Amino acid sequence: MNQLATNTTFVEQQLAAHAFPNTPENLYDPLRYFLKIGGKRMRPILTLMAAEAVSASPNESIAAALSVELFHNFSLIHDDIMDNAPVRRSFQTVHEKWNPNIAILSGDVLLIEAYKQLAFYSDDRLPLLFKRFNDTAVEVCEGQQMDMDFEERANVSVNEYIEMIRLKTSVLLGCALEFGVIVGRGDEQLRKLFYDFGVQLGLAFQIQDDYLDLYADPEKFGKQVGGDVLSNKKTMLSLLARDCCNKSKDPRYQELLDMPPTAEKVVFAKNLFHELKVADQVLAEMNVHFDKAMQDLEKMELSESSKKPFKELADFLINREH
Ligand code: IPE
Ligand code: IPE
Ligand code: MG
Ligand code: MG
Ligand code: MG
Repeated sequence: MNQLATNTTFVEQQLAAHAFPNTPENLYDPLRYFLKIGGKRMRPILTLMAAEAVSASPNESIAAALSVELFHNFSLIHDDIMDNAPVRRSFQTVHEKWNPNIAILSGDVLLIEAYKQLAFYSDDRLPLLFKRFNDTAVEVCEGQQMDMDFEERANVSVNEYIEMIRLKTSVLLGCALEFGVIVGRGDEQLRKLFYDFGVQLGLAFQIQDDYLDLYADPEKFGKQVGGDVLSNKKTMLSLLARDCCNKSKDPRYQELLDMPPTAEKVVFAKNLFHELKVADQVLAEMNVHFDKAMQDLEKMELSESSKKPFKELADFLINREH
């Protein structure tokens, strides 16, 4: 098995072993459910991989890795309420299967579970792990609020969009990698390079996520196709379509925003975006960030064999279908 497969199995085992109390059932059942229904586990894998690159074993870095994955799952449970998402990982979302109040509180517990993992490092590494976790968690909330605010705005610039996705998505990938370096007591320069790599990979990843939201195979995607269109999210696709329409005084972008959230709106968006050929430009923008991530990886003073798993994971991520 390669390192990616071994680490995935290890993370799955450790998450499965994560025990929650039996009661109150409405607090803990949703968490047992949500952690069981899948997920790519790429963030904890990044932590394990970065730790291995600085010679720390998976047993030593797993708590930091789980901390990031538990935080991510907390953010998804709340994100699905905010985005009105019915499906996640091909299963009903927590607020749909139970209700929004249950999703809020079980999400909150998961955030606390993430903190509890950090307490495993009760030595000189804790202050930095704690600081990076806290800074990142606040940034994710900032990005999430910007994402929601942008639903109501038509004039979001590309720079604002990039800043929003950097905060809501990318910094957590950066943090996951930093955690591995901190656990393995790697130097600050390497930690920063890993962070930059994670941020660029995260930008590519979120641009890909926006693309998949409309163009993924519904059988494989595991989420509602067109969810971003239904809630007027400002994605790379929609910003490019807006700019094209503005240039040619085409009223259809505004029409799209004004449409009620029905299946016709998604079809309308697909046809408009197809005609304006925005999808290829979006993929090109994704590749810009992917290439920057690869450049950051090249700058690291690590052996080629240590870098290889990162290239494999990055390739897997930008070729994914869900
Ligand atoms: C979904 O993340 C949220 C985004 C930042 C786009 P993932 O696509 O990593 O979700 P799972 O954990 O694999 O389900
Ligand atoms: C989610 O972004 C980012 C966070 C959860 C912090 P999206 O809303 O695009 O993620 P999906 O598409 O629901 O997975
Ligand atoms: Mg969202
Ligand atoms: Mg969402
Ligand atoms: Mg999305």
